[in-house]
Amino acid sequence: MAENLTLPEDFFFGAAMSGPQTEGRWHEGGKLENIWDTWSMENIDDFYNKVGSYVGNDFMTMYEGDLDILKNDLGLDSMRTSIQWSRLLDKDGNLNPEGAEWYHRLFAAVRDAGLDLFVNLYHFDMPTYLFRKGGWESREVVEAYAHYARTAFEEFGGEVKYWFTFNEPTVEPEQRYEEGNWWPKYKNFNRARAVQYNISIAHSMAVQAFRELQSAGKLVEGARIGLINAFMPPYTKEDPSPADLEAVRMTDGINNRWWLDLVTKGELPQDVIETLQERGCVLPVRPGDDEILARGTVDWLGCNYYQPKRVQAPAKDTAENGCPIFADPYRWPDAVMNESRGWEVYPKGIYDFGMSAAKDYPGLEWFVSENGMGVEREYEHRGADGRIQDPYRVDFVRQHLEWIARAINDGANCVGYHYWGVIDNWSWSNAFKNRYGFVEVDLMENYRRRLKESADWLKQVATTHVID
Ligand code: BG6
Repeated sequence: MAENLTLPEDFFFGAAMSGPQTEGRWHEGGKLENIWDTWSMENIDDFYNKVGSYVGNDFMTMYEGDLDILKNDLGLDSMRTSIQWSRLLDKDGNLNPEGAEWYHRLFAAVRDAGLDLFVNLYHFDMPTYLFRKGGWESREVVEAYAHYARTAFEEFGGEVKYWFTFNEPTVEPEQRYEEGNWWPKYKNFNRARAVQYNISIAHSMAVQAFRELQSAGKLVEGARIGLINAFMPPYTKEDPSPADLEAVRMTDGINNRWWLDLVTKGELPQDVIETLQERGCVLPVRPGDDEILARGTVDWLGCNYYQPKRVQAPAKDTAENGCPIFADPYRWPDAVMNESRGWEVYPKGIYDFGMSAAKDYPGLEWFVSENGMGVEREYEHRGADGRIQDPYRVDFVRQHLEWIARAINDGANCVGYHYWGVIDNWSWSNAFKNRYGFVEVDLMENYRRRLKESADWLKQVATTHVID
């Protein structure tokens, strides 16, 4: 029988972005400094081409035109952004009226544009004064997050239906606390897992606040809460040793099962916690935490998928600072690479995630909350009409959509697809290095938007749900 490569009619097809990466106006309207603003001021050399967090892609100025592009030029039906903690609340935890007014205005414009709105809370963007109080290592800050979440639900719960507590809650522990890539560049596995643990508590407290408001009838009908994680299915060598398989178990446990278990069962995976503790990793567990975690179950899940995680047994099992090492990276000989970004392109990974979620977490509804192909500016060539010609982006998305359609046909409970960075945006220390957009942002021309050639293809698929 011929494959049915179409997406369901009620499948969400939209765009993902975040507040700190797009809004700009970082010092206006009562917004506090966040960790990216502080890092930009302290060491701009750490940012690609010395472009710090200040301007995003100027979305706060250009949002009306951008929403029109999403809806009419690209044919999308939904979009995600995030509410910046540092814009919504002041230092005393009170609502910043100007910040709240902006989000009300934006959300109304999204509605008016005919797009379904998905709102995330935290996207790596902690207010600096809270980071200086210990950030995610401090329970006081965890409580402050719970307050921020409750305030956001109270303020916007009458107008926003789809909520998420965190974007990629393993990535910040990894980048900021473990691998030392993000300011202030800590390199300590134990610290990273302690932060991951506290984020799990913060997530669960936010879900509790959401449920309380929901039971009190303070949220819109059908409101849903979820979590968005970078689910990178782990793979190892074709002929693995027991130690390679152990590397897979712990990689999967820390990156994937940690969150899947929390959001479906209200607990963290016992085998992973036990192994961490056996290897000397101390988690900041407090009496009563199990009851808090038990409230962390959600209505659905976002899966950010860019690439798989290929691992093998570690060459040595302890780092110089005494922290355990559970896996080393493994370069698959057959890997197809996006050489410009340095990430593997493996579209079948999304199918494998969908199939394992259907088997191990039956009933869990999820959607692809980010997927995309970023390349450097030099890689993008213009046609005679001045538009960027990017057939590789079409190939990338087509292949991923095909595997999503196959997964759905085989029983995966996947209900949507959001492309990351539909309009080129600022991305942390990579700034504008990797351009994901179907829409170009010209940094030399006041952030002018221009459709890339791939935009025509995207509109065709987004409006018909037929993957051609
Ligand atoms: C995702 C993040 O993991 O990757 C985004 O959620 C980020 O915030 C995106 O922008 C792309 O990252 P990069 O480094 O390729 O620009």
